[in-house]
Amino acid sequence: MNTRKTIVDFRAMKQAGEKIAMLTAYDAGMAGFFASCGVDMLLVGDSVGMVVLGYDSTVPVTMAEMLHHAAAVRRGAPAAFVVGDLPFGSYQSGARDAIVNGTRFLKEAGCDAVKLEGGLEVCATVRAMVTAGIPVMGHIGLTPQTANQLGGYKVQGRDLESARRLLREARSLEEAGAFGMVLECVPEQLAALITEQIGIPTIGIGAGPSCDGQVLVSHDLLGMFEKFVPKFVKAYANLAPQIREGVSAYLADVRQGQFPGEEHSFVSEIDLAQLLTEESNELVK
Ligand code: KIV
Repeated sequence: MNTRKTIVDFRAMKQAGEKIAMLTAYDAGMAGFFASCGVDMLLVGDSVGMVVLGYDSTVPVTMAEMLHHAAAVRRGAPAAFVVGDLPFGSYQSGARDAIVNGTRFLKEAGCDAVKLEGGLEVCATVRAMVTAGIPVMGHIGLTPQTANQLGGYKVQGRDLESARRLLREARSLEEAGAFGMVLECVPEQLAALITEQIGIPTIGIGAGPSCDGQVLVSHDLLGMFEKFVPKFVKAYANLAPQIREGVSAYLADVRQGQFPGEEHSFVSEIDLAQLLTEESNELVK
């Protein structure tokens, strides 16, 4: 049986130059597949809102939805390190709500850690959560929950001022006690600099190859989300056409009476004619 990795292992992986492979998961079945492939960390991302629940952004996702999916992932991958994503509105109001909601991920869904978005404005909250015993992962650069404030889904840290701010945010999150952080949509050279300047692992998504690890939305990696595909995505499989092909073949078979075949049916071992005779005798009485 695999033993579950810990935040100490992830720091050791950074120090040893061993890359951390993280992936999003939203249900037990997929989580089981990913765990059996040896994924280092599973993220129950609030991207569930877009790739599973059909929202236009991650903003509408609720705590109830996140806990539902996180608990399923834990059931499907008991030996995996699972990070639950705090949804928009569950931590921005301050440390108290963040501790209450972070604790729910650990107690009700069995997560090992939580992730939240933001830089300097969330550091006091991160510190309070870590003091309360909740392992926290940061998320800076493009933060989808507040993409409107950033002027859309854009690369961050392109100019000197915003690059300086991102480096300061990374250092402050480490200082606040975060055990790692996602860097999303950051120029690769800046991500390399941040990675080199801090002692905790950076997990990149659209942040180049020098991060300590990488994360992708599993639906993107598997070619199952067609609404848009960001530049940083590499699709390792193209399942959407295969799903359509399989479902179309099923529909055609059902409509033409080709499914189910004999091999999918059960044979009765009783005399059904007798059943009808018995029934008509009952009616006569
Ligand atoms: O919600 C999510 O899937 C994420 C990743 C993009 C890092 O936050």
